[in-house]
Amino acid sequence: MSWVYVEELGEHSGEIVEVRGWVHHRRSSGKIRFLEIRDGTGIVQCVLIKNQVSEEIFELADRVPLESSVIIQGEARAEKRAPGGYELTVKALKLVHSADEYPIQPKEHGIDFLLQKRHLWIRSPRQNAILRIRHELVKAIRDFFDQRGFILLDAPIFTPTACEGTSTLFRVDYFGEPAYLTQSGQLYMEAGAMALSKVYCFGPAFRAEKSKTRRHLTEFWMVEPEIAWFELEEVINLAEDLIVFFIERILEKRKEELKILERDISPLEKIKKPFPKISYDQAIELLKTKGMKIEWGDDFGGDEETALSQNFDKPVIIHRYPAKLKAFYMANDPANSELALCVDILAPEGYGEIVGGGQREADYNKLLDKIKAHNLPQEIFDWYLDLRRFGSVPHSGFGLGIERSLAWICKLKHIREAIPFPRMLERIFP
Ligand code: 4AD
Ligand code: MG
Repeated sequence: MSWVYVEELGEHSGEIVEVRGWVHHRRSSGKIRFLEIRDGTGIVQCVLIKNQVSEEIFELADRVPLESSVIIQGEARAEKRAPGGYELTVKALKLVHSADEYPIQPKEHGIDFLLQKRHLWIRSPRQNAILRIRHELVKAIRDFFDQRGFILLDAPIFTPTACEGTSTLFRVDYFGEPAYLTQSGQLYMEAGAMALSKVYCFGPAFRAEKSKTRRHLTEFWMVEPEIAWFELEEVINLAEDLIVFFIERILEKRKEELKILERDISPLEKIKKPFPKISYDQAIELLKTKGMKIEWGDDFGGDEETALSQNFDKPVIIHRYPAKLKAFYMANDPANSELALCVDILAPEGYGEIVGGGQREADYNKLLDKIKAHNLPQEIFDWYLDLRRFGSVPHSGFGLGIERSLAWICKLKHIREAIPFPRMLERIFP
Protein backbone atom coordinates (compact mmCIF):
# COMPACT_ATOMS: atom_id res chain seq x y z
CA MET A 1 0.00 0.00 0.00
CA SER A 2 1.36 3.38 -0.87
CA TRP A 3 1.62 6.48 1.31
CA VAL A 4 0.06 9.37 -0.60
CA TYR A 5 -0.37 13.06 0.09
CA VAL A 6 -3.88 14.45 0.30
CA GLU A 7 -3.25 16.65 -2.73
CA GLU A 8 -2.56 13.51 -4.77
CA LEU A 9 -5.71 11.62 -3.77
CA GLY A 10 -7.35 12.45 -7.09
CA GLU A 11 -4.91 10.09 -8.81
CA HIS A 12 -5.83 7.22 -6.47
CA SER A 13 -9.61 7.08 -6.59
CA GLY A 14 -10.84 3.57 -5.76
CA GLU A 15 -7.48 2.47 -4.35
CA ILE A 16 -6.59 1.61 -0.78
CA VAL A 17 -4.02 4.18 0.31
CA GLU A 18 -2.23 5.39 3.40
CA VAL A 19 -2.43 9.00 4.60
CA ARG A 20 -0.19 10.39 7.33
CA GLY A 21 -1.26 13.52 9.10
CA TRP A 22 -2.83 15.32 12.03
CA VAL A 23 -6.40 15.34 13.32
CA HIS A 24 -7.89 18.65 12.30
CA HIS A 25 -11.53 18.10 13.19
CA ARG A 26 -13.69 15.37 14.65
CA ARG A 27 -17.42 14.76 14.60
CA SER A 28 -19.88 11.92 14.93
CA SER A 29 -23.28 11.11 13.57
CA GLY A 30 -25.02 7.91 14.70
CA LYS A 31 -22.93 4.95 13.63
CA ILE A 32 -20.45 7.07 11.69
CA ARG A 33 -17.39 8.97 12.84
CA PHE A 34 -15.74 11.64 10.72
CA LEU A 35 -12.13 12.66 11.13
CA GLU A 36 -10.76 15.50 9.06
CA ILE A 37 -7.08 14.83 8.59
CA ARG A 38 -4.67 17.47 7.40
CA ASP A 39 -1.30 16.43 6.08
CA GLY A 40 0.19 19.77 5.04
CA THR A 41 -0.95 19.41 1.44
CA GLY A 42 -4.67 19.45 2.12
CA ILE A 43 -7.48 18.15 4.28
CA VAL A 44 -9.28 14.86 3.71
CA GLN A 45 -12.43 13.68 5.37
CA CYS A 46 -12.03 10.16 6.75
CA VAL A 47 -15.16 8.13 7.42
CA LEU A 48 -15.32 5.33 9.99
CA ILE A 49 -18.40 3.13 9.94
CA LYS A 50 -19.32 1.06 13.00
CA ASN A 51 -18.85 -2.67 12.49
CA GLN A 52 -16.65 -2.05 9.43
CA VAL A 53 -13.68 -1.18 11.64
CA SER A 54 -12.64 -2.73 14.92
CA GLU A 55 -14.34 -1.63 18.15
CA GLU A 56 -11.01 -0.24 19.30
CA ILE A 57 -10.50 1.97 16.25
CA PHE A 58 -14.08 3.21 16.32
CA GLU A 59 -13.69 4.19 19.94
CA LEU A 60 -10.33 5.89 19.24
CA ALA A 61 -12.02 8.08 16.62
CA ASP A 62 -14.38 9.30 19.37
CA ARG A 63 -11.68 10.60 21.63
CA VAL A 64 -8.48 11.20 19.64
CA PRO A 65 -7.38 14.73 20.63
CA LEU A 66 -7.14 17.40 17.96
CA GLU A 67 -3.67 17.72 16.34
CA SER A 68 -2.75 14.16 17.31
CA SER A 69 -0.66 12.54 14.60
CA VAL A 70 -2.16 9.48 12.91
CA ILE A 71 -1.63 7.06 10.06
CA ILE A 72 -4.80 6.07 8.26
CA GLN A 73 -5.41 3.42 5.66
CA GLY A 74 -8.55 3.50 3.61
CA GLU A 75 -10.21 3.60 0.25
CA ALA A 76 -10.05 6.92 -1.56
CA ARG A 77 -13.04 8.20 -3.49
CA ALA A 78 -14.32 11.44 -4.87
CA GLU A 79 -16.94 13.09 -2.69
CA LYS A 80 -18.11 16.51 -3.78
CA ARG A 81 -19.51 17.41 -0.36
CA ALA A 82 -16.26 16.65 1.49
CA PRO A 83 -13.83 19.50 2.10
CA GLY A 84 -11.11 19.02 -0.51
CA GLY A 85 -13.37 16.89 -2.70
CA TYR A 86 -12.10 13.50 -1.51
CA GLU A 87 -13.06 11.10 1.18
CA LEU A 88 -11.34 8.10 2.70
CA THR A 89 -13.33 5.11 3.90
CA VAL A 90 -11.18 4.03 6.81
CA LYS A 91 -9.92 0.46 7.16
CA ALA A 92 -7.19 1.09 9.73
CA LEU A 93 -6.24 3.93 12.06
CA LYS A 94 -3.00 4.15 14.02
CA LEU A 95 -2.36 6.77 16.66
CA VAL A 96 1.26 7.89 16.39
CA HIS A 97 1.17 10.60 19.03
CA SER A 98 -1.71 11.65 21.22
CA ALA A 99 -1.65 15.45 21.46
CA ASP A 100 -2.10 17.49 24.63
CA GLU A 101 -5.12 19.77 24.68
CA TYR A 102 -4.60 22.00 21.65
CA PRO A 103 -4.54 25.69 22.58
CA ILE A 104 -5.90 27.06 19.31
CA GLN A 105 -9.64 26.51 19.05
CA PRO A 106 -12.04 27.52 16.28
CA LYS A 107 -13.21 30.44 18.48
CA GLU A 108 -11.73 33.93 18.04
CA HIS A 109 -8.38 34.31 19.75
CA GLY A 110 -6.64 37.61 20.39
CA ILE A 111 -3.77 38.47 18.05
CA ASP A 112 -1.17 38.48 20.85
CA PHE A 113 -2.11 34.95 21.79
CA LEU A 114 -1.92 33.79 18.17
CA LEU A 115 1.47 35.43 17.63
CA GLN A 116 2.74 33.85 20.82
CA LYS A 117 1.60 30.51 19.37
CA ARG A 118 2.78 31.28 15.84
CA HIS A 119 4.59 27.90 15.67
CA LEU A 120 1.16 26.23 15.95
CA TRP A 121 -0.92 28.94 14.30
CA ILE A 122 0.74 28.23 10.92
CA ARG A 123 -1.13 24.90 10.93
CA SER A 124 -4.52 26.56 10.56
CA PRO A 125 -6.08 26.66 7.09
CA ARG A 126 -5.91 30.44 6.68
CA GLN A 127 -2.27 30.77 7.67
CA ASN A 128 -1.47 27.70 5.62
CA ALA A 129 -3.05 29.28 2.54
CA ILE A 130 -1.07 32.50 3.01
CA LEU A 131 2.20 30.58 3.27
CA ARG A 132 1.40 28.62 0.12
CA ILE A 133 0.72 31.81 -1.78
CA ARG A 134 3.98 33.21 -0.42
CA HIS A 135 5.77 30.20 -1.85
CA GLU A 136 4.12 30.77 -5.23
CA LEU A 137 5.03 34.46 -5.17
CA VAL A 138 8.69 33.69 -4.50
CA LYS A 139 8.71 31.01 -7.18
CA ALA A 140 7.08 33.33 -9.71
CA ILE A 141 9.63 36.07 -9.02
CA ARG A 142 12.51 33.63 -9.42
CA ASP A 143 11.02 32.30 -12.65
CA PHE A 144 10.51 35.82 -14.00
CA PHE A 145 14.15 36.78 -13.57
CA ASP A 146 15.47 33.39 -14.62
CA GLN A 147 13.45 33.56 -17.85
CA ARG A 148 14.99 36.93 -18.60
CA GLY A 149 18.54 35.73 -18.14
CA PHE A 150 19.27 37.38 -14.79
CA ILE A 151 21.94 35.88 -12.56
CA LEU A 152 21.02 35.32 -8.92
CA LEU A 153 23.76 36.93 -6.86
CA ASP A 154 23.53 36.62 -3.10
CA ALA A 155 24.34 39.76 -1.14
CA PRO A 156 26.02 39.64 2.28
CA ILE A 157 23.98 39.93 5.47
CA PHE A 158 26.76 41.49 7.57
CA THR A 159 27.63 44.88 6.15
CA PRO A 160 30.11 47.59 7.12
CA THR A 161 27.73 50.49 6.53
CA ALA A 162 24.23 51.82 5.80
CA CYS A 163 22.47 51.67 2.44
CA GLU A 164 19.11 53.18 3.35
CA GLY A 165 19.94 55.77 5.99
CA THR A 166 21.58 55.38 9.37
CA SER A 167 18.45 55.68 11.52
CA THR A 168 17.22 52.11 10.99
CA LEU A 169 20.47 50.16 11.34
CA PHE A 170 20.81 47.07 13.51
CA ARG A 171 24.31 47.15 14.91
CA VAL A 172 26.13 43.94 15.73
CA ASP A 173 29.52 43.23 17.22
CA TYR A 174 31.79 41.81 14.53
CA PHE A 175 34.88 40.58 16.37
CA GLY A 176 35.08 43.81 18.29
CA GLU A 177 34.29 46.03 15.29
CA PRO A 178 30.87 47.52 14.57
CA ALA A 179 28.94 45.95 11.69
CA TYR A 180 25.31 46.13 10.64
CA LEU A 181 22.68 43.74 9.41
CA THR A 182 21.96 44.53 5.78
CA GLN A 183 19.19 47.00 4.94
CA SER A 184 19.42 46.21 1.22
CA GLY A 185 21.70 44.28 -1.13
CA GLN A 186 21.64 47.07 -3.67
CA LEU A 187 25.21 48.36 -3.45
CA TYR A 188 26.51 44.82 -3.98
CA MET A 189 24.10 44.32 -6.87
CA GLU A 190 25.56 47.41 -8.52
CA ALA A 191 28.97 45.73 -8.38
CA GLY A 192 27.31 42.57 -9.72
CA ALA A 193 25.67 44.38 -12.63
CA MET A 194 29.08 45.62 -13.79
CA ALA A 195 30.32 42.02 -13.66
CA LEU A 196 27.30 40.07 -14.93
CA SER A 197 25.11 42.74 -16.59
CA LYS A 198 21.73 41.77 -15.09
CA VAL A 199 21.60 40.37 -11.60
CA TYR A 200 19.23 40.07 -8.68
CA CYS A 201 19.46 39.16 -5.04
CA PHE A 202 16.71 37.67 -2.94
CA GLY A 203 17.14 37.72 0.76
CA PRO A 204 16.27 39.12 4.14
CA ALA A 205 16.67 42.81 4.91
CA PHE A 206 16.73 44.35 8.37
CA ARG A 207 15.44 47.72 9.49
CA ALA A 208 15.27 48.89 13.07
CA GLU A 209 11.84 50.45 12.45
CA LYS A 210 10.84 52.05 15.69
CA SER A 211 7.23 52.63 14.72
CA LYS A 212 4.43 50.15 14.99
CA THR A 213 2.49 50.10 11.73
CA ARG A 214 0.66 47.43 9.82
CA ARG A 215 3.23 47.78 7.00
CA HIS A 216 6.55 47.46 8.79
CA LEU A 217 8.59 44.49 9.87
CA THR A 218 12.10 44.69 11.30
CA GLU A 219 13.08 41.65 9.21
CA PHE A 220 11.54 41.30 5.76
CA TRP A 221 12.40 39.75 2.40
CA MET A 222 13.23 41.70 -0.67
CA VAL A 223 14.07 40.94 -4.29
CA GLU A 224 16.47 43.43 -5.83
CA PRO A 225 17.29 43.40 -9.55
CA GLU A 226 20.04 45.66 -10.88
CA ILE A 227 20.74 46.16 -14.56
CA ALA A 228 23.72 47.78 -16.28
CA TRP A 229 22.83 50.35 -19.00
CA PHE A 230 19.20 50.64 -17.80
CA GLU A 231 17.74 54.09 -17.27
CA LEU A 232 14.76 55.03 -15.13
CA GLU A 233 12.04 54.35 -17.72
CA GLU A 234 13.42 50.91 -18.49
CA VAL A 235 13.55 49.83 -14.87
CA ILE A 236 10.00 51.10 -14.29
CA ASN A 237 8.91 48.95 -17.19
CA LEU A 238 10.66 45.93 -15.69
CA ALA A 239 8.91 46.42 -12.34
CA GLU A 240 5.53 46.61 -14.07
CA ASP A 241 6.23 43.41 -15.98
CA LEU A 242 7.26 41.64 -12.77
CA ILE A 243 4.09 42.60 -10.90
CA VAL A 244 1.82 41.60 -13.78
CA PHE A 245 3.71 38.29 -14.05
CA PHE A 246 3.36 37.23 -10.43
CA ILE A 247 -0.27 38.28 -10.12
CA GLU A 248 -1.12 36.25 -13.20
CA ARG A 249 0.79 33.23 -11.85
CA ILE A 250 -0.95 33.34 -8.48
CA LEU A 251 -4.36 33.67 -10.10
CA GLU A 252 -3.50 30.68 -12.25
CA LYS A 253 -2.08 28.42 -9.52
CA ARG A 254 -3.49 29.52 -6.16
CA LYS A 255 -7.21 30.10 -6.66
CA GLU A 256 -8.02 27.52 -3.97
CA GLU A 257 -5.92 29.34 -1.39
CA LEU A 258 -7.36 32.73 -2.34
CA LYS A 259 -10.80 31.19 -1.84
CA ILE A 260 -9.86 29.99 1.66
CA LEU A 261 -8.83 33.59 2.40
CA GLU A 262 -12.15 34.82 0.93
CA ARG A 263 -10.08 37.17 -1.22
CA ASP A 264 -12.22 38.87 -3.88
CA ILE A 265 -10.04 38.25 -6.93
CA SER A 266 -11.71 40.73 -9.28
CA PRO A 267 -9.34 43.59 -8.25
CA LEU A 268 -6.38 41.29 -8.94
CA GLU A 269 -7.74 40.40 -12.36
CA LYS A 270 -7.46 44.06 -13.34
CA ILE A 271 -3.69 44.15 -12.82
CA LYS A 272 -2.59 44.59 -16.44
CA LYS A 273 -0.15 46.98 -18.10
CA PRO A 274 0.16 49.88 -18.34
CA PHE A 275 0.00 51.11 -14.75
CA PRO A 276 -0.91 54.74 -14.09
CA LYS A 277 2.21 56.88 -13.86
CA ILE A 278 2.42 60.23 -12.06
CA SER A 279 5.26 62.45 -10.93
CA TYR A 280 5.80 63.38 -7.29
CA ASP A 281 4.62 66.90 -8.20
CA GLN A 282 1.37 65.52 -9.57
CA ALA A 283 0.96 63.33 -6.49
CA ILE A 284 1.27 66.39 -4.24
CA GLU A 285 -1.40 68.20 -6.29
CA LEU A 286 -3.67 65.16 -6.11
CA LEU A 287 -3.32 64.96 -2.32
CA LYS A 288 -4.09 68.66 -2.01
CA THR A 289 -7.30 68.27 -4.03
CA LYS A 290 -8.23 65.55 -1.53
CA GLY A 291 -7.85 68.11 1.24
CA MET A 292 -4.72 66.61 2.76
CA LYS A 293 -2.28 68.90 4.50
CA ILE A 294 0.90 68.41 2.53
CA GLU A 295 3.48 70.66 0.90
CA TRP A 296 6.00 70.10 -1.86
CA GLY A 297 9.06 68.59 -0.23
CA ASP A 298 7.16 66.50 2.34
CA ASP A 299 7.51 62.73 2.25
CA PHE A 300 4.47 60.47 2.01
CA GLY A 301 3.44 58.57 5.09
CA GLY A 302 1.00 55.69 5.30
CA ASP A 303 -2.04 57.97 5.07
CA GLU A 304 -0.82 59.74 1.95
CA GLU A 305 0.08 56.45 0.29
CA THR A 306 -3.36 55.06 1.05
CA ALA A 307 -5.06 58.21 -0.25
CA LEU A 308 -3.03 58.10 -3.47
CA SER A 309 -3.65 54.43 -4.14
CA GLN A 310 -7.40 54.91 -3.68
CA ASN A 311 -7.48 56.89 -6.92
CA PHE A 312 -6.42 53.92 -9.00
CA ASP A 313 -7.41 50.31 -9.41
CA LYS A 314 -3.90 49.29 -10.44
CA PRO A 315 -0.54 49.84 -8.77
CA VAL A 316 0.43 53.50 -9.23
CA ILE A 317 3.91 54.50 -10.30
CA ILE A 318 5.23 57.69 -8.68
CA HIS A 319 8.49 59.03 -10.06
CA ARG A 320 10.92 61.88 -9.47
CA TYR A 321 10.67 62.67 -5.76
CA PRO A 322 12.70 65.54 -4.30
CA ALA A 323 16.29 64.27 -4.07
CA LYS A 324 16.53 65.40 -0.44
CA LEU A 325 13.90 62.79 0.55
CA LYS A 326 15.83 59.93 -0.97
CA ALA A 327 18.98 57.90 -0.40
CA PHE A 328 22.47 59.13 -1.33
CA TYR A 329 22.98 56.87 -4.36
CA MET A 330 20.17 58.27 -6.50
CA ALA A 331 20.97 60.08 -9.76
CA ASN A 332 19.50 63.55 -10.20
CA ASP A 333 17.04 64.39 -12.94
CA PRO A 334 19.02 66.26 -15.63
CA ALA A 335 15.89 68.37 -16.27
CA ASN A 336 15.68 69.48 -12.62
CA SER A 337 18.53 68.77 -10.26
CA GLU A 338 16.27 69.05 -7.21
CA LEU A 339 14.60 65.80 -8.27
CA ALA A 340 15.88 62.24 -8.07
CA LEU A 341 15.48 59.77 -10.94
CA CYS A 342 13.60 57.45 -8.64
CA VAL A 343 10.40 55.45 -8.54
CA ASP A 344 8.05 54.11 -5.91
CA ILE A 345 5.16 51.85 -6.79
CA LEU A 346 2.15 51.85 -4.47
CA ALA A 347 -0.09 48.80 -4.37
CA PRO A 348 -3.84 49.26 -4.83
CA GLU A 349 -6.42 48.79 -2.06
CA GLY A 350 -4.38 50.84 0.41
CA TYR A 351 -1.35 48.55 0.75
CA GLY A 352 1.27 51.24 0.34
CA GLU A 353 4.70 51.12 -1.25
CA ILE A 354 5.74 47.74 -2.60
CA VAL A 355 8.59 48.88 -4.86
CA GLY A 356 11.34 51.46 -4.35
CA GLY A 357 14.14 52.04 -6.81
CA GLY A 358 15.53 54.14 -9.62
CA GLN A 359 18.58 55.17 -11.57
CA ARG A 360 21.88 55.33 -9.71
CA GLU A 361 24.41 58.14 -9.72
CA ALA A 362 27.06 57.00 -12.20
CA ASP A 363 29.46 59.94 -11.91
CA TYR A 364 32.36 59.59 -9.48
CA ASN A 365 32.52 63.21 -8.31
CA LYS A 366 28.79 63.64 -7.91
CA LEU A 367 28.56 60.41 -5.97
CA LEU A 368 31.42 61.43 -3.71
CA ASP A 369 29.66 64.74 -3.01
CA LYS A 370 26.46 62.89 -2.11
CA ILE A 371 28.30 60.54 0.26
CA LYS A 372 29.79 63.57 1.99
CA ALA A 373 26.49 65.45 2.04
CA HIS A 374 24.84 62.47 3.77
CA ASN A 375 27.62 62.35 6.37
CA LEU A 376 28.54 58.82 5.39
CA PRO A 377 32.08 57.52 6.07
CA GLN A 378 33.93 57.93 2.77
CA GLU A 379 36.60 55.27 3.43
CA ILE A 380 33.98 52.57 3.78
CA PHE A 381 32.49 53.55 0.42
CA ASP A 382 35.83 53.37 -1.41
CA TRP A 383 34.95 50.05 -2.96
CA TYR A 384 31.58 51.41 -4.11
CA LEU A 385 33.23 54.48 -5.63
CA ASP A 386 35.53 52.12 -7.55
CA LEU A 387 32.50 51.14 -9.62
CA ARG A 388 32.52 54.74 -10.92
CA ARG A 389 36.27 54.61 -11.60
CA PHE A 390 36.41 51.48 -13.71
CA GLY A 391 33.97 51.60 -16.60
CA SER A 392 31.03 53.43 -15.05
CA VAL A 393 27.76 53.13 -16.97
CA PRO A 394 24.18 54.24 -16.32
CA HIS A 395 22.42 51.58 -14.29
CA SER A 396 19.18 51.12 -12.42
CA GLY A 397 17.37 48.73 -10.18
CA PHE A 398 14.68 48.39 -7.56
CA GLY A 399 13.66 46.49 -4.46
CA LEU A 400 10.29 44.77 -4.13
CA GLY A 401 9.13 43.79 -0.65
CA ILE A 402 7.77 40.24 -0.47
CA GLU A 403 5.58 40.72 2.59
CA ARG A 404 4.08 44.01 1.42
CA SER A 405 3.25 42.39 -1.91
CA LEU A 406 1.82 39.31 -0.24
CA ALA A 407 -0.26 41.35 2.21
CA TRP A 408 -1.85 43.05 -0.81
CA ILE A 409 -2.36 39.84 -2.80
CA CYS A 410 -3.99 38.11 0.19
CA LYS A 411 -5.66 41.31 1.39
CA LEU A 412 -4.31 40.91 4.92
CA LYS A 413 -5.08 43.46 7.60
CA HIS A 414 -1.50 43.44 8.84
CA ILE A 415 1.88 42.49 7.36
CA ARG A 416 2.69 40.19 10.31
CA GLU A 417 0.71 37.34 8.73
CA ALA A 418 2.72 37.56 5.50
CA ILE A 419 5.90 36.01 6.93
CA PRO A 420 6.23 32.68 8.76
CA PHE A 421 7.77 34.12 11.93
CA PRO A 422 7.38 37.91 12.08
CA ARG A 423 9.92 40.18 13.74
CA MET A 424 8.53 43.53 14.82
CA LEU A 425 9.28 46.28 17.29
CA GLU A 426 7.95 44.30 20.22
CA ARG A 427 8.26 40.77 18.96
CA ILE A 428 11.15 38.38 18.49
CA PHE A 429 9.35 35.28 19.83
CA PRO A 430 8.95 32.44 18.96
O1 4AD B 1 12.27 51.59 -0.65
P1 4AD B 1 13.32 50.73 -0.02
O2 4AD B 1 13.87 51.16 1.27
O3 4AD B 1 14.45 50.57 -1.13
C1 4AD B 1 15.65 49.97 -0.98
O4 4AD B 1 16.02 49.33 -0.03
C2 4AD B 1 16.49 50.03 -2.23
N1 4AD B 1 17.90 49.93 -1.84
C3 4AD B 1 16.06 48.91 -3.14
C4 4AD B 1 16.83 48.89 -4.44
O5 4AD B 1 16.70 49.84 -5.19
N2 4AD B 1 17.54 47.83 -4.71
O6 4AD B 1 12.74 49.28 0.16
C5 4AD B 1 12.23 48.56 -0.95
C6 4AD B 1 10.95 47.85 -0.58
C7 4AD B 1 9.80 48.76 -0.17
O7 4AD B 1 9.15 49.29 -1.30
C8 4AD B 1 8.92 47.81 0.62
O8 4AD B 1 8.18 46.99 -0.26
C9 4AD B 1 9.94 46.95 1.31
O9 4AD B 1 11.14 47.02 0.56
N3 4AD B 1 10.19 47.41 2.68
C10 4AD B 1 9.66 46.85 3.78
N4 4AD B 1 8.82 45.82 3.95
C11 4AD B 1 8.47 45.49 5.20
N5 4AD B 1 8.91 46.11 6.30
C12 4AD B 1 9.77 47.15 6.20
N6 4AD B 1 10.23 47.75 7.29
C13 4AD B 1 10.18 47.57 4.88
N7 4AD B 1 11.00 48.52 4.42
C14 4AD B 1 10.99 48.41 3.08
MG1 MG C 1 11.14 53.25 -0.21
